Amino acid sequence: MIEKLQKIKENASAELSGVSDKATLAAYKVKFLGKQGALTEVLRGMREVSPEDRPKVGALVNEIRDAIESAVAAKEREFERAELEKELASSFIDISEPSKGHEKGALHPLSRVYETLIDACVNIGFKVVDGPEVELDYYNFEALNVPKNHPARDMQDTFFISDNLLLRSQTSSVQARAMKSLTPPFKIISPGRVYRNDSDATHSPVFHQMEGLVVDENVSMADLKSMLTSLMRKTFGENTELRFRPSFFPFTEPSVEVDVTCPTCHGEGCRICKGTGFLELLGAGIVNPKVLEMGGIDSKKYRGFAFGFGVDRVAMVKDGIGDIRSMFRNDIRFLKQMK
Ligand code: DAH
Repeated sequence: MIEKLQKIKENASAELSGVSDKATLAAYKVKFLGKQGALTEVLRGMREVSPEDRPKVGALVNEIRDAIESAVAAKEREFERAELEKELASSFIDISEPSKGHEKGALHPLSRVYETLIDACVNIGFKVVDGPEVELDYYNFEALNVPKNHPARDMQDTFFISDNLLLRSQTSSVQARAMKSLTPPFKIISPGRVYRNDSDATHSPVFHQMEGLVVDENVSMADLKSMLTSLMRKTFGENTELRFRPSFFPFTEPSVEVDVTCPTCHGEGCRICKGTGFLELLGAGIVNPKVLEMGGIDSKKYRGFAFGFGVDRVAMVKDGIGDIRSMFRNDIRFLKQMK
C-alpha cells in the first residue's frame, strides 16, 4: 500500500510538468483526485491494511492529496495570470480619449424651492416640525377656529375619510398641534403635502404648503412684515417688494394676503401677473387669541403671527412653469428643462 502511494506521488509530480494549459490541468485533476482517480482507488483498499498501519497510511494519503491539491491550485493561478497578461498585452486602452460624458442629475424644482425656503427659515431660528397627512378634523379645522358648518370650510374642498378624519387641506394643522406640544416662545415652520379636491393647470389634488408660526410675548404685525420681506427677498431676489392687503382667515385676526413683485417682469406688468406687477403668494396674520387658547397657550401673555403659502406656486413663479401638474408627472424631458 505504502509503495502504491509512493508511486502515485512520483507519478503526480512527474506528470505535473506535462500540464501546460487549463485542459491538461483538468485532466490531471481527474486522474489523481477524481472519483475514479488514483488516490480514491487506493483508499478503497484501506480495508486490507492492518489496523495498526492504518493511521500511517491515512496520514500519507492526506499528505499526498494536499500536495497534489496545492500543486493544482498553483497551476490554476499561473494560468489565470498568464491569461490576464495576454489580454492586457493585446488590448489597448487609450486613456487620453475624451469621455463620452454622463448625465448629471439635478434637484426637482420643488425640492430646490423647499431647500431655499427651509434654509432661510432655519438660519433665523425656526425649527422644522412635521405633522400627519391623514389628520383629525379637529386639528385641520376646529382648533383653527373653523367649527363644523363654518362657511370657510367651503374654500378647501376637503377629502374626508370619515366624519372626523380627513386628508389635511392645509399645513396650518401642524400649528394647531405644535401649540399643544411646545412651550412658548417658539418659532416653527412645517413644510409638507396637502390635499384638495381640485385639478386644473394651477391646482393639483396634492400640492405643497409651508406654514410658519411664531409665538412670543411681544410679536406684532411689524415682525411678521419684516420676516416675510426678508424670506421673500432670499427666495426671489433682493429687489422684491411686498404688498400687504387686508383679508380674512378664521385663525388670524387681523389677516392679510401678501403679494410679491412678479419675478418675471419685475413689477412692469406681464402675462404671468396679469399686468399688475404683483403675484398673490401668501396668507398671514396675527394668530387669533381663540386659536392660542385652544392650543393651551395663555393669550393674555403670548401673541403669535403665522403665515402659509403654496410651495408649488413659488416654484412655478420662479421657474415660469405654466402647469402645476407637470411637476408631479416626472417627465424627464420637463425636468431636464428645469435644471
Ligand atoms: N392655511 C391657509 C390656506 O391654506 C394659508 C394661511 C393663511 C396660513 C393665513 C396661515 C395664515 O398660517 O396665518 O389658505
